[in-house]
Amino acid sequence: MSEKILVIGANGQIGTELVVALRGIYGAAQVIASDINNPGYAIRNGGPFEFANVLDQDNLHHIFQKHRPTQVYLLAAILSAVGEQKPKLAWDLNMNGLIHVLDLAVEFNVSKVFWPSSIAVFGPNSPKQDTPQYCVMDPNTVYGFSKLAGERWCEYYYHKHGLDVRSIRYPGLISWKAAPGGGTTDYAVHIFHEALKNKSYTSFLSVHTALPMMYMDDAIRATLSLMDAPAEQISIRSSYNLGGISFDPEQLAAEIKKHIPDFTIDYADHDPRQAIADSWPKSIDDSQAQKDWGWQLEYDLPKMVETMLTNLKTELAESVKV
Ligand code: SER
Repeated sequence: MSEKILVIGANGQIGTELVVALRGIYGAAQVIASDINNPGYAIRNGGPFEFANVLDQDNLHHIFQKHRPTQVYLLAAILSAVGEQKPKLAWDLNMNGLIHVLDLAVEFNVSKVFWPSSIAVFGPNSPKQDTPQYCVMDPNTVYGFSKLAGERWCEYYYHKHGLDVRSIRYPGLISWKAAPGGGTTDYAVHIFHEALKNKSYTSFLSVHTALPMMYMDDAIRATLSLMDAPAEQISIRSSYNLGGISFDPEQLAAEIKKHIPDFTIDYADHDPRQAIADSWPKSIDDSQAQKDWGWQLEYDLPKMVETMLTNLKTELAESVKV
């Protein structure tokens, strides 16, 4: 049977790259991108697109009925920093959006669903270093506890309805193709833009705030290999820890300075995102993902920084020409 893949939230930081990757594998016509907002050029011209609002059940039902997807990726979410400004909306969208999609996946016999979780499911009392898959989880952001509750729903649908749901707890994601969507880890993307444009950056996180991060190519590869793995290899039906690279703003700045020697960094005094970052792990143990579906990281800090600077430099030069 040929696959028909629906990506909901296709315009975001992950969706922008995931849709292109999936279209490369399955063919453009087989991958339906959808989002509440107008798509960018690559998505609009690369294949089918539908407007989707995850809070509108009728709209979603219509899309499922029209396309009969065999796989669904639900990427629409409100992230940590924006979630603290709009807590009720973040809860509603992150939670009811997921439940709507899980229900439709059951109704339309979707064979596999992917839903992203996050390092934000951990909280101040979770172990900070090499945070294990199972430990105390007391997230104190709306985003974090919506993701934790979402993980429970995913596992519940797997057991109650036999729905093949798979999930990853992404670290902060670093990419140059699309902007990050209002999270606490966004500084690690902003810094590259500012380094290339102004040779200086004011970090909203403090000098030694280490967090787990990952270059987008690794995140996309992890997602596709989890989705490709035989179902019997998936021992975790809530969400898999994924470690990535752990660094703080000072270490990232030092690596950027190797390419841009006069780059300077300074630090903002008070930012609400600092408290969020302080509640999250500094590094993550992902041995279960390695064991179950052979996960291996490819981008370490030097490789990620070099790749980001090279690509973003070309991108920024192109955008000046246009
Ligand atoms: N990158 C996300 C955020 O900062 C974490 O999943 O909100």
